[in-house]
Amino acid sequence: MKRRGAGTLGREEIGSRVRLQAWVQRRRDLGGLLFVDLRDRTGVAQVVVHPERRADLAALLEPVRAEWVLEVEGTVVAREPAAVNPRMATGEIEVEAERIEILARSEPLPFQLDDRAEALAETRLRYRYLDLRRPELQRNLELRHRITHEARQYFHEEGFLEIETPILTRSTPEGARDYLVPSRVHRGEFYALPQSPQLFKQLLMVAGFERYLQIARCFRDEDLRADRQPEFTQIDLELSFPTEEEIFALIEGLFARLLPLVGATATVPFPRLTWAEAMARYGSDRPDLRFELPIVELSAVLGASGFRGFREAVAGGGVVRGFVVPGAAGASRKQVDGWAELARQNGAAGVLTLRRQQGEIAFTVKNSLTADEMEAAATALALEEGGLALLAAGPERSTAAALGALRLELARTYGLIPEGRWSFLWVHEFPLLDWDAEAERWVAIHHPFTSPDPRDLALLASDPGRVRARAYDVVLNGTELGGGSLRIHDPGLQERLFQLLGIGAEEARERFGFLLDALKLGAPPHGGLALGLDRIVMLLAGASSLREVIAFPKTASATCLMTEAPSKVETRQLAELGIAPVRPPEAG
Ligand code: AMO
Repeated sequence: MKRRGAGTLGREEIGSRVRLQAWVQRRRDLGGLLFVDLRDRTGVAQVVVHPERRADLAALLEPVRAEWVLEVEGTVVAREPAAVNPRMATGEIEVEAERIEILARSEPLPFQLDDRAEALAETRLRYRYLDLRRPELQRNLELRHRITHEARQYFHEEGFLEIETPILTRSTPEGARDYLVPSRVHRGEFYALPQSPQLFKQLLMVAGFERYLQIARCFRDEDLRADRQPEFTQIDLELSFPTEEEIFALIEGLFARLLPLVGATATVPFPRLTWAEAMARYGSDRPDLRFELPIVELSAVLGASGFRGFREAVAGGGVVRGFVVPGAAGASRKQVDGWAELARQNGAAGVLTLRRQQGEIAFTVKNSLTADEMEAAATALALEEGGLALLAAGPERSTAAALGALRLELARTYGLIPEGRWSFLWVHEFPLLDWDAEAERWVAIHHPFTSPDPRDLALLASDPGRVRARAYDVVLNGTELGGGSLRIHDPGLQERLFQLLGIGAEEARERFGFLLDALKLGAPPHGGLALGLDRIVMLLAGASSLREVIAFPKTASATCLMTEAPSKVETRQLAELGIAPVRPPEAG
């Protein structure tokens, strides 16, 4: 008799004999009847034992507790009409046991699987294999499998070759710290775990593979949050001779294949915003477009108004901007204070309000704006009766960032984010460089191999901050899912960029000599992109953290509570590696 999945049984099986091997979800003794809910990957089925007919089975079930593993053979029977459970996929049937064998016992559990109390998060991670028995996590990991499978299939059909690249390698500059691995053979030298396969995939283009794909593990030692893990997986690709249009269409095609896996559809092509448009209109380089609340430029309207803060901002080269939340005019003082705090956390001086209530417009600072000025601002903002406008003034970057954060916060507070919407978007024409005031040098916004926009090449010497990059991000519902660029394939330009980034000729040779050599040996024009697989699964699964879609995730402080990694190693091992701790671990 073949083993059946508990969740696969239905009316069609009535009368047939089946064999189940599964975990006990629950055992109930109703005196005259014994019920055991058996759970496996496919679902749950109810097993029934009639003690008066099968006293032996009833006795065998006596000690059985949750999470024991049983083998049950029996006949599928229809439930009494009153016992039909419409909430259960197998709720019309039950399995009348004829033979039961205990395959494994379980000690009392450290937590109840269906108890969702937050306090248990650490215990759940310690016993991750138990937590993973929950249907929700099983579903998430199954979805992850299906997404990966579909992506592989799609790129295979599109002519991509899956090629693995090294895990023990040298540092790849993606902006985070490296995880280092000491070499035993070459004492004092280190491998770095790849932050991404960036340089290898470029070299595969030089090697003539034309279309590369890898489901690639990446490692970054950076501050963690719900959508960041220290090791994560990319759907990583690179193409020779691509245009941006080709890459956009390719990725849109991928999502058009993935969304149906969760019963949704992706509307293609995705809308596009330049980075400058996204920052001005939504205050973010990954705007959530499930809702509008556009930010409006008010510098011309209020830059010469009676309010000094506005005048000074604009005179100092900054901006005045704001956005309207319809129906929010009744916001309390406390709420506004909270929003001002959020604005400050994002670098603005605070927030000002303009409200239209009972036909009157009111500004935070009474008597500082004339009625005409308030009316003009309200018109520019399209502020209607009952609406609240939040305004900020100051340098462009911080004002945009503060309003962007507020836009999200108010959309959440006022329930303006619709469920079940999939708002994809491309953000492109990112700036190439950013000025790091602390280090007093330019840094690459994407990575140093990203091609400048040919239209801006002349600015590289005169005004590097204004040079646009041929870089693009794909965003879904306010989360950056992936990013990429067309690369520099001209060795002269690459060297020039290294110089601009303060990487001298010698250092460039030492760190990236192999790339510079390759670019001189017939490097085709190339470009690509990497998608965060974990993030895609998280969004499609409706999960709120990457932890829910990674089998064995790490905590916010990058530890694995189950294996207790990272851990101390023996002094002997360190000696072999030629490493002496700066501070002995005991003193730590
Ligand atoms: P980038 O650094 O933008 O690009 O990474 C691409 C995508 O990887 C995901 N991601 C992460 N996911 C989980 N945890 C993290 N710590 C984490 N960091 C990044 C994001 C992100 O959009 N080599 C380039 C790509 C290229 O140019 O082709 C790169 O790695 O979803």
